[in-house]
Amino acid sequence: MIIETERLIIADLTIDMCVAVQENSIDEDNKRFVPDEVFETIEDARKTVEWLIESSQCEKGPFLYPILLKNKTNIGYVQVCSLENDWEIGYHIAKKYTGNGYATEAIRGFLPVIMKNLDINSIYGVVLEENIASHKVLDKCNFKLELVGTEKYQGVDKKLRRYIFNI
Ligand SMILES: CC(C)(COP(=O)(O)OP(=O)(O)OC[C@H]1O[C@@H](n2cnc3c(N)ncnc32)[C@H](O)[C@@H]1OP(=O)(O)O)[C@@H](O)C(=O)NCCC(=O)NCCS
Repeated sequence: MIIETERLIIADLTIDMCVAVQENSIDEDNKRFVPDEVFETIEDARKTVEWLIESSQCEKGPFLYPILLKNKTNIGYVQVCSLENDWEIGYHIAKKYTGNGYATEAIRGFLPVIMKNLDINSIYGVVLEENIASHKVLDKCNFKLELVGTEKYQGVDKKLRRYIFNI
């Protein structure tokens, strides 16, 4: 996959990206909000990148794509993971690149392409109640708030919001 937006490229994941994946993963917001995608070593990141590349060949994914600036700097990722009968979006922009509208721009570019590829017309976004930046991103991408409540999040009961995007 290659998607170009005004300032970004959403590309296929390659093994040489494991250094950037590791570096990007260890920022404070990712540790707080997506702790299961934090890699303390490049070796840890490499194993996961290898697994993700293999998974991208499977029907159920997950499908993760790096987000690059036009100068090829790797600033994060956008992904879709399968739920039982649905799909959920996930994303991260490394802390030093946040606040520039990159997550919103990437997701707006990504949604129509991935939804066409998967032949789906809805996709979920599940966000911790305290993750205000992420609520804003989904609002700006025209996701609709479907639920505010307490549900399991990475195995633990948490206050969260579930959003849905329909085409
Ligand atoms: C959430 C995240 C993807 C946002 O990336 P980003 O590129 O900064 O997003 P955008 O710039 O497109 O939009 C962020 C919005 O949140 C706002 N925002 C950021 N922090 C905020 C805060 N603490 N309180 C209120 N608003 C906040 C920004 O001002 C912006 O809104 P605006 O356009 O109305 O000004 C990034 O912070 C991140 O990767 N966090 C860690 C991982 C994560 O939480 N992933 C999502 C899991 S559901």
